[in-house]
Amino acid sequence: MQKGSVLVTGGAGYIGSHAVLALLDAGWPVVVVDNLVTGFAWAVDPRATLIQANIEDDAAVRAAMRAHDVCAVMHFAGSVVVPESVSDPLKYYRNNTVASRALIESAVACGVSHFIFSSTAATYGIPDQVPVSEDSPTRPINPYGMSKLMTEAMLKDVAAAHPMNFCALRYFNVAGADPLGRSGQSTAGATHLIKVAVEAATGKRDHVGIFGTDFATPDGTGVRDYIHVSDLAAAHVHALDLLIARPGDSHIMNAGYGRGYSVNDVLDAVDRVTNRTIDRRYQGRRAGDPDALVADNSAILATLPWRPQLDDLDTIVGHALAWERKLAEQAEPQRQS
Ligand code: UFG
Repeated sequence: MQKGSVLVTGGAGYIGSHAVLALLDAGWPVVVVDNLVTGFAWAVDPRATLIQANIEDDAAVRAAMRAHDVCAVMHFAGSVVVPESVSDPLKYYRNNTVASRALIESAVACGVSHFIFSSTAATYGIPDQVPVSEDSPTRPINPYGMSKLMTEAMLKDVAAAHPMNFCALRYFNVAGADPLGRSGQSTAGATHLIKVAVEAATGKRDHVGIFGTDFATPDGTGVRDYIHVSDLAAAHVHALDLLIARPGDSHIMNAGYGRGYSVNDVLDAVDRVTNRTIDRRYQGRRAGDPDALVADNSAILATLPWRPQLDDLDTIVGHALAWERKLAEQAEPQRQS
């Protein structure tokens, strides 16, 4: 029996908007709290209620929790650009750690029972072993990873002290777009590989830089575990069901497919899907990139009934490309006007 509704912070953003779709499709009432700084009101499905507010705005958040009888929070809001976290660390400790503290306090004050948190593989830093499991040391190498790890720590302590359980999902490389074309990654100035590559495929960029060819990987380029955003969103709905079924248990789990692709593998997939050849330019390494980052996903597979449905690189790239084309079509009339 479902009780109450789910409050989704950052529901107007990339991953949050896909979680909103998954929750609505599963029959949950959804209220989104988003300040629309990086998100878009149009990205929120109209079946959800959108409240434009900061998550540290206790009055607005608590009013929403009470008015909508919120039983669970899914917390996606935050800052996500790793290099920016290095140049402006206090922004990350404010927007991710301090803002999360306020949100968690509101959740406790309003008797919210369940909390699902967007964590990251960046909490591991440079792992000793790949695939990396949840009990590996957490040694973030940037403030972004640390800001998320600090929120995990708060949730552990709060779950021990208050009647609330939590699930932190440590995302690997999230990519792709809703298979039905209802949402996708819309952020301007994106730096993530698949987004950059599909921008090149649609003519928004003239090439893709490959950051480093001397990594300890089969082809020398960085290896990552790319997970389709809709599979990731589905994992959140399963995590919510589990938190409700077992209120005494909390979880920290990797969210990835458990296999890696190199930068060249990804660009090969883009070439295959578009039937074109993207201009690849070999460049030096970016600071702080690990050679390979691949999830040991045995915990999530053993804990949730979640089974990936879209675990195919060409499918991920195809959906990202379809969304990019949609964005390009929407931008066209504006450019002409
Ligand atoms: N890359 C390129 N060219 C580009 C962009 C990326 O060669 O134009 C390479 C990177 O060097 C890396 C791989 O492609 O080897 C993936 O890079 P992304 O920027 O797409 O993603 P990251 O692995 O750097 O970042 C991801 C998440 C972060 C998270 C981090 C943890 O997006 O949120 O993993 O390490 F913090």
